[in-house]
Amino acid sequence: MASSEVKTSTSTAHLTLSNKTIELPVLQGSLGPEAIDVSKLYSQTGMFTYDPGFTSTASTESAITYIDGDNGVLLHRGYPIEQLAERSSFVDICYLLLNGTLPTQAEKGDFFQRITRHTMVHDQVNRFFTGFRRDAHPMAIMVASVGALSAFYHDSTDITDPEQRLLASIRMIAKMPTLAAMAHKYSVGQPFVYPQNGLDYASNFLRMCFAVPAEEYRVSPVFSKALDRILMLHADHEQNASTSTVRLAGSSGANPFACIAAGIACLWGPAHGGANEAALKMLEEIGTPDRIPLFIEKAKDKNDPFRLMGFGHRVYKNYDPRARIMQQTAHEVLNALGASDDPLLEVARELEHAALKDGYFIEKKLYPNVDFYSGITLRAMGFPTSMFTVLFAVARTAGWVAQWNEMIKDPKQKIGRPRQLYVGEPARTLPLS
Ligand code: SDX
Repeated sequence: MASSEVKTSTSTAHLTLSNKTIELPVLQGSLGPEAIDVSKLYSQTGMFTYDPGFTSTASTESAITYIDGDNGVLLHRGYPIEQLAERSSFVDICYLLLNGTLPTQAEKGDFFQRITRHTMVHDQVNRFFTGFRRDAHPMAIMVASVGALSAFYHDSTDITDPEQRLLASIRMIAKMPTLAAMAHKYSVGQPFVYPQNGLDYASNFLRMCFAVPAEEYRVSPVFSKALDRILMLHADHEQNASTSTVRLAGSSGANPFACIAAGIACLWGPAHGGANEAALKMLEEIGTPDRIPLFIEKAKDKNDPFRLMGFGHRVYKNYDPRARIMQQTAHEVLNALGASDDPLLEVARELEHAALKDGYFIEKKLYPNVDFYSGITLRAMGFPTSMFTVLFAVARTAGWVAQWNEMIKDPKQKIGRPRQLYVGEPARTLPLS
């Protein structure tokens, strides 16, 4: 539990205001920056802290994921993402994030067995889909269908019951691929493909997305391995916007399905999980390497809202370790397809090269993030661009449920309710006439 890791530092912070100086405790975690505990600031001073975007604010203690943005480090329960991506699997990471340790063979068998028992959705969920237009964005379908799951699974909505919390977590991990594949099938006018529980997690998802009743579907081992690695890379990432959304929704006591639906809605934004879809569209718009300087200049132009999608990060001021692994995965998939000369990969490489040499990107410490290369890989595997963020949501469900459970179990947990710096009208009287 995170609280066992929190110590009060020997140093304290002193805040001097016009008429007094107060002392604030400094908290020490097991890794990373110390934190000034301002939870009593308002009661002691009548003043708030002000931090739009939470650039300097720790919203919680957590023991799940640690990021060192300056050195490009990402640890899940202490294990570096590079080692996990190389030697474990997405189901291993689901277990690790939830439980704090990697599963033994027996534990993994039981855990995966539980997941496979919950891969189907209630048959009446299928009826939701007929209400959508065929050209509905699959993220819209995911927000709606995941939020609706609480209408079906009443035996896993009591958040005070650890067993029900675990059952809801297992259901979410198990059903997200099924719903994601259904959203894809609905958009291409093909029949839904039911899960096959003899397949591993990634293979099952590929088959539900791409099999058709008219013929046997053989899962490509290269694609299955690549997809499992992509899911691992996207599983969790500390207190990012969508995870913070899940935590805030959960802090009110909302049921787990509603909380995950809120996280999916937040992830959809192009500044967050929607960046993989936006990055691929940007590479397609650039089209050829000779147009790269034009787009670099647009990204640097303060008067132009254009940004290099898949570049920059609130925390990483160095290379996102996931981006390196994503780039390697892109090469593996394209080589397996005999498409290593994919023009978009050449544009991506040239664009990265040009940006990393440019003073603007160097000074602002802007590097490729996890979204920069993922789109090239997913497109090569046959996923439409609109499905890229859906895959991100499937993967991040592992982190969302782990962080949600950690929050519910935190004895210090209370409803999240930020304050504001009011800049509106002072009190005034409503005119009588
Ligand atoms: C994800 O939080 C997470 O952990 C997220 C994530 C996860 O796993 O959950 O890692 C997944 O969301 C990755 C990020 C995907 N988004 C994009 O690739 C969209 C493009 N990137 C930017 O929109 C931006 O970099 C953010 C949103 C990612 C970060 O924005 P910040 O931290 O708020 O930084 P900022 O907007 O204040 O930028 C600092 C400066 C600004 O210039 P100045 O105002 O200081 O002059 O850098 C500039 C920005 O204009 N800048 C960019 C840029 N990103 C930042 N300029 C051009 N292109 C970019 N991509």
